[in-house]
Amino acid sequence: MSRLAVINCSQLVTLGGEPRPRTGLAMRELAIINDGAMLITDGRIETVGPRSEIEKGIGSGRTLIDAANNVVMPGFVDAHTHPVFAGNRANEFEQRISGITYAQIAASGGGIRSTVRQTRAASENELLDVTRKYVQWFLEGGTTTIEAKSGYGLRPDDEYKLLRVIRAIQPIRTVPTFLGAHEIPDEFRSNPAGYVDLVVEEMLPAVASRKLAEYCDIFSEPGIFGIDDSRRVLTAARSLGLGLRLHADQLSNSGAAVLAAELGAATADHLEHTDASGIAALRAAGVQPVLLPGSVYALGSRQYPNARAMIDAGLAVVLATDFNPGSSPTPSMPMILSLACTQMRMTPAEALTAATINAAYSLGRGNQIGSLEAGKYGDFVIYDCRDYREIPYFFGVQHPKAVYIGGNEVVTVVH
Ligand code: NIG
Ligand code: FE
Repeated sequence: MSRLAVINCSQLVTLGGEPRPRTGLAMRELAIINDGAMLITDGRIETVGPRSEIEKGIGSGRTLIDAANNVVMPGFVDAHTHPVFAGNRANEFEQRISGITYAQIAASGGGIRSTVRQTRAASENELLDVTRKYVQWFLEGGTTTIEAKSGYGLRPDDEYKLLRVIRAIQPIRTVPTFLGAHEIPDEFRSNPAGYVDLVVEEMLPAVASRKLAEYCDIFSEPGIFGIDDSRRVLTAARSLGLGLRLHADQLSNSGAAVLAAELGAATADHLEHTDASGIAALRAAGVQPVLLPGSVYALGSRQYPNARAMIDAGLAVVLATDFNPGSSPTPSMPMILSLACTQMRMTPAEALTAATINAAYSLGRGNQIGSLEAGKYGDFVIYDCRDYREIPYFFGVQHPKAVYIGGNEVVTVVH
């Protein structure tokens, strides 16, 4: 039996509260315990509270973890990532700086299709090797769970290969999402409808019956997968028991957020171009927005999604990295928090809520992770600061000193 006691936390940022996604002013309530402590038994949190109280129940035989008067918080839950790919696109990064747009690069055969060519050529083991490096990056930033999408195979065996790599990722927790409808691959450019048929008729049933994914996602964008194709793919996924997530309104306001609401999706992600009627539709249907300011930043755009309007409308906003080799090559949730605060005017507390408990609910795991409460997994991070607001404030810094998943130390960062 493993028994831990975490003591001497300047702030134990628990995010405890009502067992549901947080909205409105509740996004600012972090349930912080000053000079807090926490007991963890067999990978699960037994109790949290002020040090004076918890110390009474420590007893003997517990391993003491002294947080040395630093912040202790739940690990970040990154609810939107594309972590399995071969190669990278630093060349396109340079092209975009010279004025060529993301959409132009994609239309001329680069972009996602360039990563697909390299990823198809890589073996499962090679992909697992490169993914390990990125998993280490996530952990070092304090992330303990990632949602992970396929989408760089775009043909049956290669999509399954990516989903198997996602299943093999350790020790970070993963939630797998099938993103076969990420782009029209090279061999279907003259027959895009044929590719949608392949996704719906062959790949989705196989992914569902082999239990390779929990969610289905689609890049819903005019010229790639329009609203009718998106509806068809997602309706098929839903009927196979998969939850739904959408890349929605990223490059234009195409009505994808409204479609997410119509289909009862778990999330609508990106939303850079979503207007007031899209926000109202998400609110009415209880869809959580997943905002990805890293991709706006890395594409050199200024069109951040309207987080304030979404919070004011009562949406349970989520923040994520969108880690991928094209639009958002960052695994760093602290960087995303900084962007959320400075560019979208979310408060540090709102940003933390969006990156932990709200993200956990968006992945159907609100009762397991995302806060430090009795019964949940012991997924926590000791940050090298006294006050949680220092995390978005000191940007470009890796704040964690130590990262724990299920009570096991997975990273120790030497500062
Ligand atoms: O979320 N827009 C679609 N998908 C990703 C980018 C993937 C890529 O460029 O490789 C995104 O931004
Ligand atoms: Fe994405």
